[in-house]
Amino acid sequence: MDAARYPLEPTPDELEAQTRAVADFVLAQLRGLADQPSFDLDGVEPLRAAFDEGLPEGGTPLAELLERLKPAIAKSYNTAGPGYLAYIPGGGVYAAALADLIACAVNRYVGVAQAAPALARIEETAASWLCRLMGLPPGARGILTSGGSLSSFSGIVTARHERLGEAFQDGVLYFSEETHYCVTKAARLAGFPRASLRALPTDARFRLRPEALRNAILEDRARGKRPFLVVANVGTTNTGAIDPLPDLLEVAREHGLWVHADAAYGGFFRLAPGGETRLRGIEECDSITLDPHKGLFLPYGLGALLVKDGDALARVHREGASYVQDVTHAGSLGFADLSPELSRDFRGLRLWLPLMLHGTSAFRDQLEEKLALARWAFDELRSDERFELLDEPQLSVVAFRLRAPADEAERLGPELLRRVNARKRVFLSSTRVQGRYALRICVLSFRTHADRVKDAVSALRQEARALVGRTPSRESSTRRRRT
Ligand SMILES: Cc1ncc(COP(=O)(O)O)c(C=O)c1O
Repeated sequence: MDAARYPLEPTPDELEAQTRAVADFVLAQLRGLADQPSFDLDGVEPLRAAFDEGLPEGGTPLAELLERLKPAIAKSYNTAGPGYLAYIPGGGVYAAALADLIACAVNRYVGVAQAAPALARIEETAASWLCRLMGLPPGARGILTSGGSLSSFSGIVTARHERLGEAFQDGVLYFSEETHYCVTKAARLAGFPRASLRALPTDARFRLRPEALRNAILEDRARGKRPFLVVANVGTTNTGAIDPLPDLLEVAREHGLWVHADAAYGGFFRLAPGGETRLRGIEECDSITLDPHKGLFLPYGLGALLVKDGDALARVHREGASYVQDVTHAGSLGFADLSPELSRDFRGLRLWLPLMLHGTSAFRDQLEEKLALARWAFDELRSDERFELLDEPQLSVVAFRLRAPADEAERLGPELLRRVNARKRVFLSSTRVQGRYALRICVLSFRTHADRVKDAVSALRQEARALVGRTPSRESSTRRRRT
């Protein structure tokens, strides 16, 4: 083969050299991970500007391109590192990268079963493992998506189709005010106006109140609306709250509503000891969003939608055309029949390979460790009177505030975050809970262990001391907060 004439088809030797160069590059990145700063955006502007470039007519050697990528990777939040305790981390289990390399290199099509029967079965099997992990009955089916947002979208469209049919404008959806914004986004994309979305109040532990749900349904019914869906949280992003699924299911069943669990963050904790009790009711939900790129620590880009009545997926998604008659047959279902996508990556492999390679127990152990680390951080911060803890961790999020007079809290909270992050050992993020600023630690990377969580807690304590001084007594801080 003439490599100069056909540059898109490198010679075998060139391919080997390129593959080795990329492997060396990636392994060097991973080797230094624990010593890298938790984030680094210093001087990123010129770097970013350098990528604002025109379409190249000719090629550039791979080594040069890898050199350019190095600083671009370094100047970022270190989302793969052990110090990343912000938002919802995961880390990115390496086996998934190997799976992606294989999947892209062999480039087989898995959207219809006939095109690669055994590979399509790998993806089906991996999705069915997720159904089993959530305790769904036989007949449940799963599809793999790019993440929780797309899973929520397909979940809401499926519920809409099953409960409302084609004329759905009078349908109403319910969820708590702590629900992730991807749910309202998905509902709007699914055709529901904001006026049909009910964000309901929560209890003292940030969980949807079943009574609030019941009352809202009755009110909407009385107004001639069609309540059809409740989205229950299995681990909110803010505090990790788990809505009371059994009670919500009861209310939903009374009124014929579909129950979708947003378990994007929390679902995989069902694997951990005590998980079935903690997540009781998830096995009864009509559909579930999971994010393996969170709770199974895979790289960004893998979510899942599980549906208890798996045939519902086909009822809403299946279409046909004569030009696919050779590969689609009555009775045989492929992912293209069950999900919005036709051509897409072979994402089943990035779930199947890590689970096969490491076994479920490796993931279970990690999840157990994360729960214990969050509990430890909670106990430590609670013992320091400078901090007000919002709730006992229901999963692996610890949300807290700096105790400070109300007029200073909004300034001191962000300043505490800035100072802790500026040490570059850990990276935390903030939120607002019931209108007030709060910080949070989310322990969910397979690379985060006790040493890093200890660093986070001691940085918080030291910086809090520097900001608010000596430990205020509980009474005086309570008095100050009341004034
Ligand atoms: C509870 C919850 N639901 C849904 C999502 C959205 O998932 P994704 O970012 O994979 O689209 C997130 C993301 O953090 C989340 O925390």
